[in-house]
Amino acid sequence: MSGTLHAVDLIRKKRDGEELNGDEIRFLVEGASRETIPEEQLSAWLMAVFLRGLSLGELDTLTTAMRFSGEVLDHAGLGRKTVDKHSTGGVGDKTSFLVAPIAAAAGLADPMISGRALGHTGGTLDKLESIPGYRTDLSLAEMRKVVEQCGVSIVGQTKDLVPADRKLYSLRDRTATVENPYLICASIMSKKLAAGLDALVIDVKTGSGAFLRDEEDAQYLAALMVETGERAGTRTVAVLTDMSQPLGRFAGNWVEIVESMELLRGGRDPLSEDLREVSLILAGWMIYLGGKARSAEAGRSAAEEKLSDGSALEIFREMVAAQGGDVKALDAGMEFHRPKYRREFRAMRSGYFVAADCTKVGWAVQRLGAGRERAGEPVEANAGLEMHVKLGAKIEAGQPLATLFTEDEARFAEPEQLLGKALTIGDAPTAAPRLIREIISVGNKNSFLKRQRRS
Ligand code: URA
Repeated sequence: MSGTLHAVDLIRKKRDGEELNGDEIRFLVEGASRETIPEEQLSAWLMAVFLRGLSLGELDTLTTAMRFSGEVLDHAGLGRKTVDKHSTGGVGDKTSFLVAPIAAAAGLADPMISGRALGHTGGTLDKLESIPGYRTDLSLAEMRKVVEQCGVSIVGQTKDLVPADRKLYSLRDRTATVENPYLICASIMSKKLAAGLDALVIDVKTGSGAFLRDEEDAQYLAALMVETGERAGTRTVAVLTDMSQPLGRFAGNWVEIVESMELLRGGRDPLSEDLREVSLILAGWMIYLGGKARSAEAGRSAAEEKLSDGSALEIFREMVAAQGGDVKALDAGMEFHRPKYRREFRAMRSGYFVAADCTKVGWAVQRLGAGRERAGEPVEANAGLEMHVKLGAKIEAGQPLATLFTEDEARFAEPEQLLGKALTIGDAPTAAPRLIREIISVGNKNSFLKRQRRS
């Protein structure tokens, strides 16, 4: 069939708002992964999708074709249901280090394939690599062994998994076609579904630090991902969570491992409570969808038990050791990676902490050295920041709002400027933002899909 197809005809068809059939979409995806269709034609098709959108049928076909464009994982014989959590990206978002070992402690398996820092958001792999020796580049066979041993393994993407996304994502990055719900959904879901999951919980961030700041856009993307996951036979739920300020107390690399270890040890620092709560809700859904609890609420209670009894901590330590990491470093906390320079960022006036431009806070963290300027550059393990206040707090002039950490004193200037613009002190008190905005599941997804459906 595909011998008679021509990319130019398919671009024209989508450009004019028509629906492509399965053979046509598979032809384009195969052309992307085998590099038989030139970049200019793939880019033009991506822009046509960006402008015209996709029907749910087209989205399903695109995601499925991308999912099977390379190797797919098979967990037969593991003896446990496989569940995972995926976040659309945020600042200080370290829930993976909590929910994955909690799910494993509850008797599930989490083969988690994660990414690096992207834009203003931090990368799970960069954070894990601040643990000396920790290998994120396991082969799929090595990953399987770690999952068999610990119930969880957190690794990077191999080149054989979803090659179509690697090609299409790099074109989207260069052609201003990243911020589109259909393309984001196909990109994320093809990778998650290739990981062979029984259930998936997606943490869709919304607010000033999210890629989709607008709550309705985030809801629509969430509903698309639930629809696509369920069509593929993976039980899928999306939890819309607040990203209008950094999650937890720390943002950076090693500092995020330190905060995660504090919580895994049962710590209850008030500034980490939002992180703890979001993690328990996400883990609760994983446990419920994985069949280990009768409801998401019962799953949350089970998750809290796994955190309190130390079993999640044990599993996290075991996974770090199995992937070559130095477990003693985990116990040394901030003492292990002492940042060379620290500087406090203080309030210019008294009042209330009323707003944060969390994307700017994220850029401040990246510019302190936690992220990279160019692909492939190393990141600094020690770089990051500690927030001392949450939205709604009463502030006295001169009070430290954050402490910045870096290895290079010259790096302080830009983050200080960014924070000066990002953190707003106002006269009137405001309420703290709601942490959980919406739960989108198979039961209510259609109402969100209807609202913004484009033909
Ligand atoms: N993360 C992905 O993997 N793909 C996207 O398109 C956006 C975020």
